[in-house]
Parts: sequence; structure tokens; C-alpha cells
Amino acid sequence: MKKILFVASEGMPFIKTGGLADVVGSLPKTLDKEYFDCRVILPYYSFMDQKWKDMLEYRTNFYMDFNWNRCYVGIFECVYEGIHYYFIDNQDYFTDLKPYNGMPYDLGRFAFFDKAALSILPTIDFRPDVIHCHDWQTGLIPVYLNSYFQENEFYRGIKTVMTIHNLKFQGVWDIQTVKDIVGLPDYYFTPDKLEYHRDANLLKGGLVYADAITTVSETYAEEIKMPYYGEGLDGLMRAREHDLRGIVNGIDYDEFNPATDKYIYKNYTAENFRKEKIKNKTALQADLGLNMDPKTMLIGIVSRLTDQKGFDLIAYVMDELCQDSVQFAVLGTGDERYENMFRHFAWKYGGKVSAQIYYNEALSHKIYAGSDAFLMPSQFEPCGLSQLMSLRYGTLPIVRETGGLKDTVEPYNEFEGTGTGFSFANYNAHEMMATVRYAEKIYYDKKRDWNKIVDRAMAADFSWEASALKYQELYDWLIG
Ligand code: ADP
Ligand code: GLC
Repeated sequence: MKKILFVASEGMPFIKTGGLADVVGSLPKTLDKEYFDCRVILPYYSFMDQKWKDMLEYRTNFYMDFNWNRCYVGIFECVYEGIHYYFIDNQDYFTDLKPYNGMPYDLGRFAFFDKAALSILPTIDFRPDVIHCHDWQTGLIPVYLNSYFQENEFYRGIKTVMTIHNLKFQGVWDIQTVKDIVGLPDYYFTPDKLEYHRDANLLKGGLVYADAITTVSETYAEEIKMPYYGEGLDGLMRAREHDLRGIVNGIDYDEFNPATDKYIYKNYTAENFRKEKIKNKTALQADLGLNMDPKTMLIGIVSRLTDQKGFDLIAYVMDELCQDSVQFAVLGTGDERYENMFRHFAWKYGGKVSAQIYYNEALSHKIYAGSDAFLMPSQFEPCGLSQLMSLRYGTLPIVRETGGLKDTVEPYNEFEGTGTGFSFANYNAHEMMATVRYAEKIYYDKKRDWNKIVDRAMAADFSWEASALKYQELYDWLIG
């Protein structure tokens, strides 16, 4: 049995801010259980839903040297849907109201988390063959493994994979502070290791020391070798291109299933969506205070509200788009300027635009099911899961051709009768608007063709099966 350990800062169903949690919550379940014993380590956030906290069992605690102190490391555990989870507890670090609170605070807590995640392994009696790290919060794991932990035979020979879910976040702070907190010698703070434009960069540490690097789509794996998407690390990505692979994410097909979804108003399938899906739309319109018109095209947006997601394009042409016969259902939280932008449009176009500025799992499913189209004009998108959820619910994605959006949405070709959605190439508001209007035209004037696109969208397979095989190959190759 090969042992794989996931270490991450969030994971469904315990804690989620974005797609990382979906991946950490669904990929381990999909790995072949006959060959892989895959376990997961997460922080014990005190603000986790009580329902989940009640499920966890206290296992033990010990003290660990960290940041010039002896720090408490508590271990909780549970088995959920066949996967063994461990939670690292320290009330000095994980008691805020949300997982991420900005630097340099996050630096300290995730450095602690990384060292603790390695330190608990003998105690929980699990020696992984491969540690699979996710994003900058776990970037120090390959570095610690290379340094401090090499003295202990238990750790020698453990391989590491670093997966980039988002290259924009790297965990960067000044070298002196980082050195003090993480307790690594000067040797590690040179430009070929953690140093990055005179600062220290935790993700870079992970990318330099990991045995393999992956990211969450093939296109993004190519893009990050170029300056526009490389976030200052394109040189390193080029240098390590032989160890870098793009493996597209899947989604949990049990959780996101219009035939059984408990959150939506009316279940439907690929066979009966022509009659049943619309009931989700009218119920959603009623809930959100939109004009109750089943014929009007409803465009959904469910997103973190950050500049990554292309909201500047929407801001630019929203007034024009609102002259059309369309409605928008927006659910999201994030940067204040985008929150206020959507609140403003909801006020200005009451009945046509709804802005729900909070996080809500149930409403997100209702929007995936009830909308006709889903707009995601991202500036960059490592993979994107929302468009996959939309496809699964027969809600046609309108996306910019970047990263995973390019790899998962096939643009409609009216001459060949192919495609699962609509897309445009350049980060340009008028290109986006023209694409939305093209979709409107098909929706209103060629309803039969629209429904055939829905047929293809719902038939597309973005379950985890194929991608899980690729991860398994990678683990096998690393273990040798
Ligand atoms: P990212 O990870 O960059 O945020 P993804 O498309 O990969 O983007 O994943 C976003 C995930 O977060 C999806 O599961 C989406 O439904 C969910 N999500 C984002 N914002 C909200 C919200 N306000 N309420 C509920 N779910 C949300
Ligand atoms: C990141 C990316 C998103 C990706 C998700 C899961 O949050 O922004 O594109 O789908 O991670 O890999």
C-alpha cells in the first residue's frame, strides 16, 4: 500500500474559501483505495462549523520548537467518507474568523502548520511515501524536509509534490522576519532558493525543493512559463519545466449532481432538463427578488470577488448589458470595490440584477441550477471549478480563453454543431460583451440549438476519474 499525505490550508467539508477546498476534499476519495492510503492534514480552525468540530476526536499533544518557543501541537482526527483526516491545533494560530488574514500574520501560522504537519507523523504512525503540498501555505514543507528533518531517519526518502492552485499568492515577506520565524539558516535565503527580489518567498521554497510540481490545467502549466502569468516566477517555472505538469481538476459528481442535489428547488437530469430546469429559475427569481419571468435569460456569477476573476470587464459594460433582456444573479464576497459595484448595479437595476454579498453553499447550487448561462471572464484562471459545476447543471459557461477555462469549455460552433459554451480570447470588455450578446442571440432566436449545447454540456465528463489516474501515475513514478 502506497502512502500519500495531503497537507493543505483548507478542505471540504470542514473549511472552504475557494476551489482549493473542493480539490482537497474530493481528490483523495477518488484515488484507488486498493493501492493508495491517502490521508489529509488541515489546521484545526476554531471557527469551523460546530457540526464538524463535534465529529473530531482529540488524539494527543506534544510541544515543538518553533520561532524561539516551545509551541503546543494538538492533534485531532476523524474519518470522513473513508478518508483519514488529522487537524493541527494551536489556539495562538488558528482562532481568527477566517483562514487567511494577511501577511505577516499568515506567514507565522502557516510556517508553524508546516513544521507541525511534519512533526506529527511519527506520533500518528504514518510515514508517507509522498507528501502532496498545496499552494504557498504549505511551501515550507519540502524545505523543512530537506533541512531540519533530514537528521531523523524516519523522514529520509519521503518525496514531495507541490501543486500550484494559484501562482498569484506566494507568501512573500522580508528575509529577516521570515528567517526569524521559520528558523532556517542563511543558506536557504539566496536567489536560487527562497530569496525573491530581496524578499523571502515561501512558495518559491516549495517549488525549488519539491520533487515534482503540478498545476491544475495544462494551459496554465504553459502560461506560467511566460512573464504575463508567471508572477515573477516564470524563470523558475521554465527552469523546472521537466518536473512541471498540468493536471486538470475534476469536481465531486456526487455532490454536484442535478438529479440528487438537496440544495436545489427541483431535481432534473440530462433527459428532462427541457421541462424541469426552468422551475429552478423561477424559484430562484422569486427568492432573489428578480422579475418573475421564465423567458428572460438569467446569467449567474458565483465567485470570490477579486481582480483575478475579470470583474473590471463587467464594471465597464454592465450598464450597456443591462439594456438587454437579461438578468444577473451574483453571489460572492471579496474586494470591497467589487462588492460595492454589484450592490450599486442591483440598486440601479432592481428586478434585473441581484447581488448577494456573502458566502453560501446552498445558494451557490441554486444559482448553478437556476441560471441559463454562467459568466466567468477571468484575467487568469489556473483551473476554475465554477464553470465545471455550471456544465454539470446544463448552465452554459461564458468564459475567457485562459488557463483551465480554455481547457474545459469548448466554444459553440454553429456551423459544426459543436461546443459546450461560449468564449472570447482577449481581456477586453467589448469582446466579452459581444460574446454575451452572441449567447443571448442563440438563447432567444435558436432555442433548439441552445438546448443541444446544454445536451453536450451535461454529457461532458469532468468527474475526477481521469485526472486521479494522472496523479496516481505521478505518485508511482516518484516512489519508483
Ligand atoms: P477559486 O478557487 O479561484 O475561487 P474556483 O472556480 O476554482 O475558483 O472555485 C470556487 C469555488 O468556490 C466554487 O466551488 C464556488 O462555487 C465556490 N464559491 C465562491 N464564492 C462563493 C460564495 N460566495 N458562496 C458559495 N460558494 C462560493
Ligand atoms: C485556485 C484557482 C482556481 C482553481 C482552484 C482549485 O483557487 O484560482 O482556478 O480551480 O484553485 O485548483
